[in-house]
Amino acid sequence: MNPYTVLVVGMGKRGKHHATHFHANPRFKVVGICDIDAAKLAEAAPALGNPRTGTDARAMARELEPDVFCFCTLPHIRSEMVEIGVNCGADLIAFEKPVALTSAEGLKVKALLATSKAKVVVSHQHRYGVHYRAVKDVIAAGSIGSVHTVYGIAAGWAAHMLSHLIDYSMWFNDYSRPQWVMAQAAGTRKLTDAHASPDYVAGFVHFSNGVRGVYECGGGAPDVPEVERWWGKNRIGAAGTEGYAEVYTGNGWKAVTRNGILKGDGAMAYDQDMPGYIQDMADWLDGGNVHPCCFDNAYAGFEVMMSMYRSAAGGGQVVLPLADGVNELGILEKAMSRAPLQVTLEESRKEYCQPAT
Ligand SMILES: NC(=O)c1ccc[n+]([C@@H]2O[C@H](COP(=O)([O-])OP(=O)(O)OC[C@H]3O[C@@H](n4cnc5c(N)ncnc54)[C@H](O)[C@@H]3O)[C@@H](O)[C@H]2O)c1
Repeated sequence: MNPYTVLVVGMGKRGKHHATHFHANPRFKVVGICDIDAAKLAEAAPALGNPRTGTDARAMARELEPDVFCFCTLPHIRSEMVEIGVNCGADLIAFEKPVALTSAEGLKVKALLATSKAKVVVSHQHRYGVHYRAVKDVIAAGSIGSVHTVYGIAAGWAAHMLSHLIDYSMWFNDYSRPQWVMAQAAGTRKLTDAHASPDYVAGFVHFSNGVRGVYECGGGAPDVPEVERWWGKNRIGAAGTEGYAEVYTGNGWKAVTRNGILKGDGAMAYDQDMPGYIQDMADWLDGGNVHPCCFDNAYAGFEVMMSMYRSAAGGGQVVLPLADGVNELGILEKAMSRAPLQVTLEESRKEYCQPAT
């Protein structure tokens, strides 16, 4: 069988990961790489079999007509890139989380994708880690009883981390659909970041199977002392009638079950997670199972994230699914207190607290 041809746009950190692992998988052939920074192309190309290079994604997509259009650019140009993927007739469009920064943009992305038959994958690839899968297995086996709560905590800010927390916790709850969301937010420093977000957002989700979701993301979230590395300080888990099971992104997992305490190793590593993530794209393209990181699941989580912002800005419970597009960052900017964030960890000061003048 001929390999699926791939164009990867954005040769930064994640674009290189994607291109490297497409290149390593015999079911794919990287035919093009694109970046507005030509130096990154020259640096990356030799290790990728010297594919075509260029700085204009639209022109390259039109010319190469790839089977897979993959883009790993920063979050502010999602609909523009999705439109290129749709127009070049790709069979699969793969892109990075978060789906978008606002629901106005997310709805645009969804509407564009609805005009296409392309399969769509969003990169919530941490779930391929052995520790994430161990937690899912314990929960799915019924060892913590009937799940009543899922949760996620991270020290990093929302546009980086919240979509991961929501996606994996929703996986632990079999992607039961969210019905309403209520939240609060504090700290405006990251509202102007490339990954624009409130500095700290915390909220509750009611899922249609009765399970409660509880999330805290950003500088006010509690420590995850099981993990040393700041970005890896994430606790994602589920509690049930007979125990709990949780993964620590940077350091293993633990479960208290009806059969005793279970635990194991594991740490998020891109080169460990990407091969399975990429292989599942080939399998889906071949007619196999829907990719676990499919757009439908990612979009459901994205709506939770946007609803947390809306609730934090306007108060009350936000009912899902969202019918209209809003610039949540704009309404947060207007509504939020300017009081500086009270950080939990000293280490977080460099990210969330203005330098002393
Ligand atoms: N899934 C994960 O675990 C994970 C981890 C880190 C980052 N991310 C996400 O990946 C995305 C990219 O992050 P990154 O760390 O790789 O960023 P990065 O800044 O390293 O790379 C982005 C690249 O896109 C290029 N670019 C920008 N505009 C372009 C355009 N119009 N056409 C072509 N190239 C363009 C930039 O020059 C840059 O090289 C973000 O959405 C981020 O949230 C995901």
